[in-house]
Formats: sequence, C-alpha cells, structure tokens
Amino acid sequence: MSKPKKLVIIGGCGHVGLPLGIVFANSGIEVVLLDVDAQKIALVNSGKMPFMETSADEALQNVVGRLLTATADPSCLKNADAAIAVLGTPVDEHLNPTVTDLYRSIDSAIDLMADNALFVLRSTVYPGVTKLVQERIRNRGRRVHVAFCPERIAEGKAMEEIGGMPQIISAFNPEAMQRARELFTLINDDLIELSPLEAELAKLFTNSWRYLNFAISNQFYLIAESCGLDFYRIYDAVTCRYPRMKSFARAGFTAGPCLLKDTLQLSAFAENNFFMGHAAMLVNEGLPNFLVSQLRKDGLADRTVAILGMAFKADSDDKRESLSYKLRKLLAIEAKEVLCSDPYISDESFVPADEAIRRADIIVIGAPHSAYRNLLVPQGKKVVDVWGSFVGKAEDQSLAAAAAGSRSL
Ligand SMILES: NC(=O)c1ccc[n+]([C@@H]2O[C@H](COP(=O)([O-])OP(=O)(O)OC[C@H]3O[C@@H](n4cnc5c(N)ncnc54)[C@H](O)[C@@H]3O)[C@@H](O)[C@H]2O)c1
Repeated sequence: MSKPKKLVIIGGCGHVGLPLGIVFANSGIEVVLLDVDAQKIALVNSGKMPFMETSADEALQNVVGRLLTATADPSCLKNADAAIAVLGTPVDEHLNPTVTDLYRSIDSAIDLMADNALFVLRSTVYPGVTKLVQERIRNRGRRVHVAFCPERIAEGKAMEEIGGMPQIISAFNPEAMQRARELFTLINDDLIELSPLEAELAKLFTNSWRYLNFAISNQFYLIAESCGLDFYRIYDAVTCRYPRMKSFARAGFTAGPCLLKDTLQLSAFAENNFFMGHAAMLVNEGLPNFLVSQLRKDGLADRTVAILGMAFKADSDDKRESLSYKLRKLLAIEAKEVLCSDPYISDESFVPADEAIRRADIIVIGAPHSAYRNLLVPQGKKVVDVWGSFVGKAEDQSLAAAAAGSRSL
C-alpha cells in the first residue's frame, strides 16, 4: 500500500469537511481545506471552530498550522494525491436535486489535479451522479481516479463517529478502489466495499430511514395529543422493558440540512413513487402547524409565545432548515407577539431565555438544549415540549415541572 501524503478537502471548512480534515491531519497526512468562505478560513487558520462540534476545538488546535491549513486558493490541488469533495447538495425550489454547482466545482478541481490522483465524492448525491462525474472526467481527457465514499456522521458526534463507524467505500475499478482503501485506512480500519450505485443508495436509505423513523413517532404524537392524551405517558409505557420498541424515537422537530432533502432525492430517483417518504414529509413538516392549531383553541391573539431553541437539534448552533423558524412564521400571523431565544445562535432579534419566559404566556421548546433543563417557569404559564425532554425531572418550579403539568396541549 502506498500512503497518500497530501489531501485537499473541497468544502473543507463545512460541517462535514472540517471534522474530517482534522481527523485526517491527526493521522499524520498533510491536509488543505479548500473553501470559498473567507470568514471560516480565517477562523480555522486561527485555531477556532466556525461552528459547534464536540471535542473538535482542541483537536483542531493540535493540527492547525502544522498538518492542517485552510485556503481559498485552488492551486493547492495541483500536487495533491487525493481530493475529497464535501460540498452542499441541496434540493431546489421544486424539491428536486441540483447538481449544477457541484459539477462546476468538480470540473474546475479536476482540471487542476495531477494524473493518477484520487477524487473522492463524499457529499450525499442523487444516485448515478458518481458515474456522471467519472464520465465528465473522461470527457475532459483526464486520468483522475473516482470514488464515492459517503459521510454518515451525525453533527455533534463527528469526532467520535468518523473513525468509530464503518466507512462505506466504492469505485468503478480495482485501481480506484485500492486508492480509496489506502486513503480511508488512515482513519478507519473498518471499510465496507460496495459499487457506487449501491453506496449512493446506501446513504439515501440511511437518511430516509431516519426521517421515516422520526415521522412515525411524530404521527403517534399527533394522534395521542389530538385526543387530549400525553404522548409520553404512552411512549414510556411501550418502551419500558420491551426490546422490540427500542428503535421507537421520541417525537420532535425533525429538521436540519440532510434528512428531508435526502428523502426527496430518493423520491426523485424513484420517480416520485416513494409514498412513505412523502407521507413522512407531510407529518414532520406539519408538526409546527399542528402545534399552532392546538394553541389556537385557547386563543392566540392576546398571547405572547416564546420559542426556546431555534437550532434544528439540541446543543447545536446549526439553524439550517430548523422547524423553529417555520413555527415562528406561523405564530407571527396569529399571536400577539413571538419571542425567540437560543444561547448558541447570534441574532439581534433574539432575547435571553429568562426574559422570554418572563414575558411569554406560552413557552414552546423549539430545540431541547440541555441549558434549558433547569430554567424556572412561574406557575400558570403553559409549556409545550414536543420532545418530552424534561420528563421525570422533579423540581417544582422548573421547566420540568411546568412541562409535566401541561405538555399536553
Ligand atoms: N451536516 C451533516 O451532518 C452531514 C452528514 C452527512 C453528510 N452530509 C452531506 O455532506 C455535504 C456537505 O454538507 P455540510 O453540512 O458539510 O455543508 P456545509 O454548508 O456545512 O459545508 C459546505 C462547505 O462548502 C463550502 N463551499 C461552497 N461552495 C464551494 C466551492 N465552490 N468550493 C469550495 N468550497 C465551497 C462552503 O463555504 C461550506 O464551508 C452535503 O451533501 C450533505 O448532505 C452532511
């Protein structure tokens, strides 16, 4: 095996690229993070993470300036043994996958890369994109090897999961597969080999599975709460000492940059014959609407509502596609006032959590940050906690007590 010596990560200062770059640099290889965001590049080069990621700050400081640098200069690709692309792959306004920007970035990267270098696609892509990338490279008269090796980490757990979970690798020929093996063996000794189309579907199945899994919990939440029952009393009962319900997720705002768009990518690939995916979208995206319709029963026009937690998940500063923003939009039409709060997102319109609680009549937990667990809520205020994140906490005046008393809407 010949060890690659220099790796460029395209989109390297993002949520996937940066933790990956840190882990590769930590294995002893030279890593250059190529990005277009000057602010993120400056932060990374000064040893600061541009976003929250558990255990990444210290790990970054250990390698930055020595084995890891960030740059906007694409010429770093010229003498790289390998490049990994982790650019965003959003769906468009018609909910269809878009590849134009991805292709443009890949074309200009490939033109700079040396013959026999390895190009790894790591973004989650529409099935068949890896093959089209390979054909584009051939049509440009270049001899760069192509592999598709999807990222499967959950944000916030990247540092432990990159090397701690099996890595799927795929390529079209033995030479490219061997190059992918040599690269990923540096950070993971548990490699699973598939064909590119299998690997593309494996990634979309993974995210769609999670999206549907959350949707069934949210559907059950809607059913229980619609008839005035506390979903979490039933949830606790059915999961108690009953192994077959182990994978029953808690309800919550199912959002973020990946799960919905990847379910839609799979649906587009299945020519829209992915009815369960579409049903899951209606349930998950409909949850804020359900909360508003329940709150409307007690009157909203003269009430102030506070949303605590605007990130898409707990203890994160990532607000991409967060359903808290959809809830804010819906409430703004009907409520007297909507206050938003999040300790991790800087926004001049937000207020601190204690002020939000003091001024609001109704408090909705948008993201169950652990910082909220011990907040005090005066008697008489309604707390809506879809996540059931405070169940079992017994402090009388705490949010836990308020939630336990009035989580059912
Ligand atoms: N976020 C996750 O938890 C996660 C997990 C698994 C897979 N993925 C997939 O990984 C991919 C990237 O997601 P992300 O969350 O890291 O996105 P991100 O937006 O955090 O990162 C993308 C980075 O690419 C940079 N960029 C944009 N255009 C560029 C260009 N032309 N050249 C160089 N850099 C450029 C951006 O500045 C940004 O830093 C997506 O396909 C996503 O579906 C994400």
